Amino acid sequence: MGKRIAIIGGGNLGTAIAEGLLKSKFSKASEIIVTKRNTATLKSLKEKGIEVTDNNVVAVKKSEVVILAVKPFQLNEVLNPIKKELNSSKLLVSVVTGVTINETLDIIGKNLPVFRAMPNTAIAIQESMTCICSRHADDGHVKYVNELFNKMGRVVTIDEKLMEAATILGACGTAYAMRYIRANIQGGIEIGFDALTASLIAAQTVKGAAELLLQKGSHPEQEIDKVTTPKGCTIAGLNEMEHQGFSSSLIRGIVASYKKIAKD
Ligand SMILES: NC(=O)c1ccc[n+]([C@@H]2O[C@H](COP(=O)([O-])OP(=O)(O)OC[C@H]3O[C@@H](n4cnc5c(N)ncnc54)[C@H](OP(=O)(O)O)[C@@H]3O)[C@@H](O)[C@H]2O)c1
Repeated sequence: MGKRIAIIGGGNLGTAIAEGLLKSKFSKASEIIVTKRNTATLKSLKEKGIEVTDNNVVAVKKSEVVILAVKPFQLNEVLNPIKKELNSSKLLVSVVTGVTINETLDIIGKNLPVFRAMPNTAIAIQESMTCICSRHADDGHVKYVNELFNKMGRVVTIDEKLMEAATILGACGTAYAMRYIRANIQGGIEIGFDALTASLIAAQTVKGAAELLLQKGSHPEQEIDKVTTPKGCTIAGLNEMEHQGFSSSLIRGIVASYKKIAKD
């Protein structure tokens, strides 16, 4: 038997995590409980055999692992009623953006193993990049949480002070990549493809490019060298993009996003 997991906040992310746990066989349906106030929207999870409830206290009591997946402003009202059920025998994982481990433990008022995780929306298809950090966790807890998020993509352990940077690069990064792909589609249509074909070519090409880096561990510039022939069309296009500020605009965008959330 795996550990019983309560997901407090069955919204976009909470539901995606529940589905990922089930699909990847990390957990059986009977080992997952998902809560939200309006449980009507959790019908499809219920049909899969997952317990759904609006009672956070009961869900936490029944579980060894508690995943907090509510909005930051909802955290206080969610934690206060359940904090008496939280103790060092439970493992707490918070995916709540922008709330530090200290702030979370301050509300709870005692120490227990806590993880902060920053996944992205590709968790819905088990392709998330999830950055995690922890406090009061032993090797067993770290192994468990790594395995959990590994089933839903890739995991990297970071210092908590990098959590804001992880939010930008890993979570907002999905939006930046979508804009890049959208621009490719628009360019593709201008040079002759219909929108559907251009979308397929652009998305699969970006996926393949990313896989080259992930599977071979190569540097982007090494892969670029393989595509650029002297006096060729690739280098002409790349250089024009750089003259127009391509890399610079991406870096500036990342830094602008970071300035918006960074607390330091
Ligand atoms: N979406 C992402 O890809 C992503 C990535 C990284 C981090 N995050 C973070 O993850 C958290 C959740 O994001 P989300 O996009 O999933 O938000 P969301 O769709 O709004 O989900 C939050 C859920 O919490 C439920 N909720 C609110 N109060 C509750 C209570 N007292 N007890 C139980 N459930 C309650 C809400 O349902 P009811 O109103 O029915 O209760 C809602 O379904 C946020 O902090 C977000 O910043 C999200």
